[in-house]
Amino acid sequence: MDFKITLLPGDGIGPEVVGEAVRVLEVIAAKYKHAFNFQERLMGGCSIDKYGSSLTDETLADCKSADAVLLGAVGGPKWDDPAAKDRPERGLLALRKGLGVFANLRPVKVHPALIDSSPLKPEKLKGVDIIVMRELTGGLYFGQPKLREMRDGREYAVDTLEYYDYEVKRIVELAFNLAKGRRKKVTSVDKANVLEASRLWRQITTKIGKENTDIELEHMLVDTASMKLITAPASFDVVVTENMFGDILTDEASVLAGSMGMLPSASLGESGPGLYEPIHGSAPDIAGKGIANPAGTILSSAMLLRYSLKLEGEAAAIEKAVDEVITAGVRTADIGGKLTTRQMTDEIIKKL
Ligand code: IPM
Ligand code: MG
Repeated sequence: MDFKITLLPGDGIGPEVVGEAVRVLEVIAAKYKHAFNFQERLMGGCSIDKYGSSLTDETLADCKSADAVLLGAVGGPKWDDPAAKDRPERGLLALRKGLGVFANLRPVKVHPALIDSSPLKPEKLKGVDIIVMRELTGGLYFGQPKLREMRDGREYAVDTLEYYDYEVKRIVELAFNLAKGRRKKVTSVDKANVLEASRLWRQITTKIGKENTDIELEHMLVDTASMKLITAPASFDVVVTENMFGDILTDEASVLAGSMGMLPSASLGESGPGLYEPIHGSAPDIAGKGIANPAGTILSSAMLLRYSLKLEGEAAAIEKAVDEVITAGVRTADIGGKLTTRQMTDEIIKKL
């Protein structure tokens, strides 16, 4: 089959890891007789440098018309001026909003061979297999008003945490559907003891819970959840939460897996292309050195095959190959090895 995939390598280590994922996808295409038509576009800091905008209308259009979008990472010290009128991160948020990808799936699994890479005690890590469903196009990131101005002679800034009922409903329903094929437990994370938006979130979630009695629903306050993620991570199955809470909790959860470099993500909407990206950032400190862990992006490309192209067998083949090389001790520096980005990918490709 023929597919169009838009690549947004972005900044920092983004181009290095996306380049390796493309090599893996090309092997898959040859082996399973597909044609992946890649088109590469600028987004983030590199796009500010070239076009004066972190996301141009043309690039967004090229993403919307693709079957799927694979993204590396955006940002870096060069574009960090707080007074700048555009930032790489703005491009990423506009892309998520523009594609309508409201559900960000971040699976966190602990590979048995990487238990020692995590600072947590090994007995806590046994059986950890979590999917965080982070709401991605609403909440504190997008709520209005969002501004900075002088008020009464003082500098003033405001961000708004807002949700409509339908925004909560669609992501919580997805979380319940996902849980059906897993261990049948949903943990909804909110701050309902303080925030009005969380009380709406909890009310809607409770109603959906009553319609899905085969799934165990647990409500948890975000402060408790941040503690439980470290003290009892194996007790979670599907976690569903607001945009900002999900941002924070997934960085925390990545520690369980030994390295952020291992973790993929998929962002999905009701229709249209999905957006796939590793959860790590642009890592300016190691950019250009060719030592970044490509696994997060390669596993993101597996999610792309599964969710956007419906190629389950091909997706599973990539996941199995990554699993096997990790078992065999194939390691980049972040997980205690010496291999380069390219060498680690070569090992993954050999397994395919
Ligand atoms: C993430 C990142 C982004 C976010 C940044 C780069 C805007 O931290 O994908 O988790 O906050 O969503
Ligand atoms: Mg984040």
